[in-house]
Amino acid sequence: MMVVPSSPHAAKELSDGEVEQALDFGFLANANWGWGCFLEDYALLAGVLSMLRPKKVLEVGTNSGVGAVVLAKAASFLSEPAHVTTVDIDQSKGRSNLHLIDGIEERITFVEADSNVFLPQLAARGEWFDFVFIDGAHDYEQALRDWRNCLGLSDTFAFHDTTQFTGLQQLMREIRFTNDFDVFQFVSPPGHRIKPNIKQEHFCTGITLVQKKTNLWGLPLRAHRDHCGELLPGHAD
Ligand SMILES: C[S@@+](CC[C@H](N)C(=O)[O-])C[C@H]1O[C@@H](n2cnc3c(N)ncnc32)[C@H](O)[C@@H]1O
Repeated sequence: MMVVPSSPHAAKELSDGEVEQALDFGFLANANWGWGCFLEDYALLAGVLSMLRPKKVLEVGTNSGVGAVVLAKAASFLSEPAHVTTVDIDQSKGRSNLHLIDGIEERITFVEADSNVFLPQLAARGEWFDFVFIDGAHDYEQALRDWRNCLGLSDTFAFHDTTQFTGLQQLMREIRFTNDFDVFQFVSPPGHRIKPNIKQEHFCTGITLVQKKTNLWGLPLRAHRDHCGELLPGHAD
Protein backbone atom coordinates (compact mmCIF):
# COMPACT_ATOMS: atom_id res chain seq x y z
CA MET A 1 0.00 0.00 0.00
CA MET A 2 1.28 3.44 -0.72
CA VAL A 3 0.12 7.00 -0.58
CA VAL A 4 0.38 8.75 -3.93
CA PRO A 5 -0.31 12.37 -4.81
CA SER A 6 -3.62 13.01 -6.51
CA SER A 7 -2.38 16.14 -8.22
CA PRO A 8 1.30 16.74 -7.52
CA HIS A 9 3.07 20.06 -7.83
CA ALA A 10 6.19 20.28 -9.86
CA ALA A 11 9.08 20.51 -7.42
CA LYS A 12 10.85 23.83 -7.25
CA GLU A 13 14.53 24.25 -6.75
CA LEU A 14 15.31 25.37 -3.22
CA SER A 15 18.09 27.67 -2.16
CA ASP A 16 20.35 26.52 0.69
CA GLY A 17 18.46 28.75 3.13
CA GLU A 18 15.12 27.33 2.09
CA VAL A 19 16.39 23.77 2.49
CA GLU A 20 17.48 24.53 6.06
CA GLN A 21 14.09 26.02 6.87
CA ALA A 22 12.08 23.31 5.16
CA LEU A 23 11.42 21.09 8.18
CA ASP A 24 12.24 23.62 10.87
CA PHE A 25 9.47 23.76 13.46
CA GLY A 26 11.22 26.38 15.57
CA PHE A 27 8.50 28.86 14.62
CA LEU A 28 6.07 26.89 16.79
CA ALA A 29 7.89 28.14 19.90
CA ASN A 30 5.95 31.41 19.43
CA ALA A 31 2.61 29.75 18.73
CA ASN A 32 -0.64 30.57 20.48
CA TRP A 33 -1.65 27.00 21.20
CA GLY A 34 -5.30 26.14 21.33
CA TRP A 35 -6.79 22.67 21.00
CA GLY A 36 -4.49 21.95 18.13
CA CYS A 37 -2.30 18.96 17.48
CA PHE A 38 0.92 18.02 19.18
CA LEU A 39 4.36 18.59 17.74
CA GLU A 40 4.77 15.06 16.41
CA ASP A 41 1.33 15.23 14.77
CA TYR A 42 2.33 18.37 12.90
CA ALA A 43 5.70 16.85 12.02
CA LEU A 44 3.96 13.82 10.53
CA LEU A 45 1.49 15.95 8.58
CA ALA A 46 4.32 18.16 7.34
CA GLY A 47 6.28 15.13 6.12
CA VAL A 48 3.25 13.72 4.33
CA LEU A 49 2.46 17.04 2.68
CA SER A 50 6.06 17.45 1.56
CA MET A 51 5.67 14.20 -0.38
CA LEU A 52 2.17 14.86 -1.70
CA ARG A 53 2.83 18.51 -2.62
CA PRO A 54 -0.86 19.38 -2.63
CA LYS A 55 -1.95 22.56 -4.35
CA LYS A 56 -5.19 22.83 -2.43
CA VAL A 57 -5.67 21.75 1.16
CA LEU A 58 -8.84 21.77 3.25
CA GLU A 59 -8.86 21.73 7.04
CA VAL A 60 -12.04 21.00 9.00
CA GLY A 61 -11.59 22.62 12.43
CA THR A 62 -9.31 25.66 12.67
CA ASN A 63 -9.33 26.50 16.40
CA SER A 64 -6.33 28.80 16.99
CA GLY A 65 -5.00 28.20 13.48
CA VAL A 66 -1.70 26.49 14.29
CA GLY A 67 -2.65 23.61 12.01
CA ALA A 68 -3.59 25.92 9.15
CA VAL A 69 -0.19 27.62 9.35
CA VAL A 70 1.69 24.30 9.50
CA LEU A 71 -0.32 22.90 6.58
CA ALA A 72 0.24 26.03 4.47
CA LYS A 73 3.98 25.99 5.16
CA ALA A 74 4.39 22.25 4.67
CA ALA A 75 2.35 22.08 1.47
CA SER A 76 4.44 24.84 -0.07
CA PHE A 77 7.99 24.23 1.04
CA LEU A 78 9.10 21.95 -1.79
CA SER A 79 6.85 23.43 -4.42
CA GLU A 80 4.93 26.48 -5.52
CA PRO A 81 2.78 28.09 -2.80
CA ALA A 82 -0.21 25.99 -1.89
CA HIS A 83 -3.53 27.24 -0.55
CA VAL A 84 -5.29 26.13 2.61
CA THR A 85 -9.02 26.62 3.23
CA THR A 86 -9.88 26.13 6.88
CA VAL A 87 -13.38 26.12 8.35
CA ASP A 88 -14.51 26.47 11.94
CA ILE A 89 -17.87 27.22 13.48
CA ASP A 90 -16.04 29.84 15.57
CA GLN A 91 -13.18 31.73 13.92
CA SER A 92 -12.62 34.15 16.81
CA LYS A 93 -9.14 32.64 17.42
CA GLY A 94 -8.45 31.38 13.90
CA ARG A 95 -6.04 34.13 12.86
CA SER A 96 -4.03 34.17 16.08
CA ASN A 97 -1.00 32.40 14.60
CA LEU A 98 -0.50 34.34 11.39
CA HIS A 99 2.46 36.11 13.00
CA LEU A 100 4.42 32.83 12.91
CA ILE A 101 5.39 33.03 9.24
CA ASP A 102 5.71 36.15 7.10
CA GLY A 103 3.26 36.21 4.22
CA ILE A 104 1.40 33.05 5.29
CA GLU A 105 -1.93 34.92 5.52
CA GLU A 106 -2.34 35.10 1.76
CA ARG A 107 -2.12 31.31 1.57
CA ILE A 108 -4.96 30.66 4.03
CA THR A 109 -8.69 31.31 3.65
CA PHE A 110 -10.50 31.31 6.99
CA VAL A 111 -14.18 30.41 6.81
CA GLU A 112 -16.51 30.75 9.75
CA ALA A 113 -19.28 28.23 9.19
CA ASP A 114 -20.77 25.00 10.39
CA SER A 115 -18.98 22.22 8.52
CA ASN A 116 -22.38 20.56 7.98
CA VAL A 117 -23.33 23.54 5.83
CA PHE A 118 -19.98 24.55 4.33
CA LEU A 119 -18.71 21.16 3.11
CA PRO A 120 -21.81 20.43 1.01
CA GLN A 121 -21.48 23.95 -0.45
CA LEU A 122 -17.92 23.13 -1.55
CA ALA A 123 -19.16 19.92 -3.15
CA ALA A 124 -21.99 21.75 -4.92
CA ARG A 125 -19.40 24.16 -6.39
CA GLY A 126 -17.38 21.19 -7.65
CA GLU A 127 -14.37 22.05 -5.49
CA TRP A 128 -11.57 19.52 -5.24
CA PHE A 129 -8.75 19.37 -2.69
CA ASP A 130 -5.53 17.40 -2.94
CA PHE A 131 -5.51 16.80 0.82
CA VAL A 132 -8.15 17.16 3.54
CA PHE A 133 -7.34 17.29 7.25
CA ILE A 134 -10.43 16.39 9.29
CA ASP A 135 -10.06 17.74 12.83
CA GLY A 136 -13.45 19.19 13.74
CA ALA A 137 -15.81 17.83 16.41
CA HIS A 138 -14.56 14.48 17.70
CA ASP A 139 -17.81 12.67 18.58
CA TYR A 140 -18.72 9.79 16.30
CA GLU A 141 -21.85 11.32 14.76
CA GLN A 142 -20.25 14.61 13.76
CA ALA A 143 -16.98 13.03 12.63
CA LEU A 144 -19.02 10.68 10.45
CA ARG A 145 -20.93 13.64 8.96
CA ASP A 146 -17.65 15.44 8.24
CA TRP A 147 -16.22 12.31 6.64
CA ARG A 148 -19.27 11.78 4.44
CA ASN A 149 -19.31 15.43 3.44
CA CYS A 150 -15.59 15.33 2.55
CA LEU A 151 -15.80 12.17 0.47
CA GLY A 152 -16.58 14.02 -2.74
CA LEU A 153 -13.92 16.65 -2.11
CA SER A 154 -10.70 14.61 -2.19
CA ASP A 155 -9.24 11.14 -2.19
CA THR A 156 -6.53 11.76 0.42
CA PHE A 157 -7.38 12.53 4.04
CA ALA A 158 -5.93 12.68 7.53
CA PHE A 159 -7.87 12.50 10.77
CA HIS A 160 -6.53 13.68 14.11
CA ASP A 161 -7.17 12.22 17.59
CA THR A 162 -8.06 8.81 16.24
CA THR A 163 -6.69 6.90 19.22
CA GLN A 164 -7.69 9.43 21.85
CA PHE A 165 -11.43 9.48 21.09
CA THR A 166 -13.55 6.34 20.99
CA GLY A 167 -15.91 7.76 18.37
CA LEU A 168 -13.00 8.35 16.04
CA GLN A 169 -11.61 4.89 16.77
CA GLN A 170 -14.97 3.48 15.68
CA LEU A 171 -15.09 5.59 12.53
CA MET A 172 -11.55 4.53 11.55
CA ARG A 173 -12.55 0.86 11.97
CA GLU A 174 -15.59 1.40 9.76
CA ILE A 175 -13.56 3.14 7.06
CA ARG A 176 -11.04 0.29 7.12
CA PHE A 177 -13.80 -2.32 6.84
CA THR A 178 -15.26 -0.74 3.71
CA ASN A 179 -12.11 -1.96 1.96
CA ASP A 180 -12.29 1.07 -0.33
CA PHE A 181 -9.47 2.90 1.39
CA ASP A 182 -5.89 2.37 2.44
CA VAL A 183 -5.75 3.30 6.11
CA PHE A 184 -2.52 4.07 7.93
CA GLN A 185 -2.70 4.51 11.70
CA PHE A 186 0.07 6.35 13.54
CA VAL A 187 0.13 6.29 17.32
CA SER A 188 2.49 8.29 19.47
CA PRO A 189 3.23 6.99 22.96
CA PRO A 190 2.08 8.88 26.04
CA GLY A 191 4.70 11.12 27.57
CA HIS A 192 5.45 13.04 24.41
CA ARG A 193 5.84 16.80 24.35
CA ILE A 194 2.47 18.26 23.46
CA LYS A 195 3.82 21.78 23.30
CA PRO A 196 7.22 23.22 24.00
CA ASN A 197 8.09 22.44 27.64
CA ILE A 198 4.80 20.68 28.42
CA LYS A 199 4.55 16.91 28.66
CA GLN A 200 1.36 14.97 28.27
CA GLU A 201 1.68 11.80 30.33
CA HIS A 202 -1.64 10.09 29.94
CA PHE A 203 -2.80 9.79 26.37
CA CYS A 204 -1.72 9.67 22.79
CA THR A 205 -3.59 11.40 20.02
CA GLY A 206 -3.21 9.36 16.87
CA ILE A 207 -3.17 10.43 13.25
CA THR A 208 -4.80 8.30 10.61
CA LEU A 209 -4.06 8.72 6.94
CA VAL A 210 -6.82 7.54 4.63
CA GLN A 211 -6.50 7.29 0.89
CA LYS A 212 -8.89 5.96 -1.68
CA LYS A 213 -7.41 2.66 -2.81
CA THR A 214 -4.90 2.89 -5.57
CA ASN A 215 -1.98 0.78 -6.58
CA LEU A 216 0.94 2.65 -8.08
CA TRP A 217 2.45 -0.52 -9.55
CA GLY A 218 -0.85 -1.35 -11.19
CA LEU A 219 -1.26 2.08 -12.75
CA PRO A 220 -0.74 2.41 -16.49
CA LEU A 221 2.70 3.79 -17.29
CA ARG A 222 1.18 7.07 -18.45
CA ALA A 223 -0.35 7.57 -15.03
CA HIS A 224 2.99 6.69 -13.44
CA ARG A 225 4.62 9.34 -15.60
CA ASP A 226 1.96 11.85 -14.57
CA HIS A 227 2.79 11.15 -10.95
CA CYS A 228 6.54 11.13 -11.29
CA GLY A 229 7.03 13.75 -14.01
CA GLU A 230 8.94 11.40 -16.29
CA LEU A 231 9.45 7.71 -16.69
CA LEU A 232 12.47 6.72 -14.69
CA PRO A 233 13.95 3.25 -14.80
CA GLY A 234 13.36 1.36 -11.55
CA HIS A 235 16.28 0.13 -9.51
CA ALA A 236 16.84 -3.61 -9.28
CA ASP A 237 18.13 -3.28 -5.71
C1 LIG B 1 -9.27 20.20 17.65
S1 LIG B 1 -9.83 21.75 17.15
C2 LIG B 1 -8.98 22.03 15.61
C3 LIG B 1 -7.48 22.22 15.75
C4 LIG B 1 -6.78 22.59 14.47
N1 LIG B 1 -7.00 21.62 13.43
C5 LIG B 1 -5.28 22.73 14.66
O1 LIG B 1 -4.50 21.80 14.32
O2 LIG B 1 -4.83 23.76 15.16
C6 LIG B 1 -11.47 21.40 16.66
C7 LIG B 1 -12.27 22.58 16.15
O3 LIG B 1 -13.43 22.10 15.47
C8 LIG B 1 -14.42 23.09 15.57
N2 LIG B 1 -15.75 22.52 15.25
C9 LIG B 1 -16.47 21.66 16.01
N3 LIG B 1 -17.64 21.37 15.40
C10 LIG B 1 -17.64 22.06 14.22
C11 LIG B 1 -18.57 22.17 13.14
N4 LIG B 1 -19.73 21.51 13.14
N5 LIG B 1 -18.24 22.97 12.11
C12 LIG B 1 -17.08 23.65 12.09
N6 LIG B 1 -16.16 23.58 13.08
C13 LIG B 1 -16.44 22.79 14.14
C14 LIG B 1 -14.29 23.61 16.99
O4 LIG B 1 -14.84 24.92 17.10
C15 LIG B 1 -12.77 23.53 17.22
O5 LIG B 1 -12.17 24.80 17.10
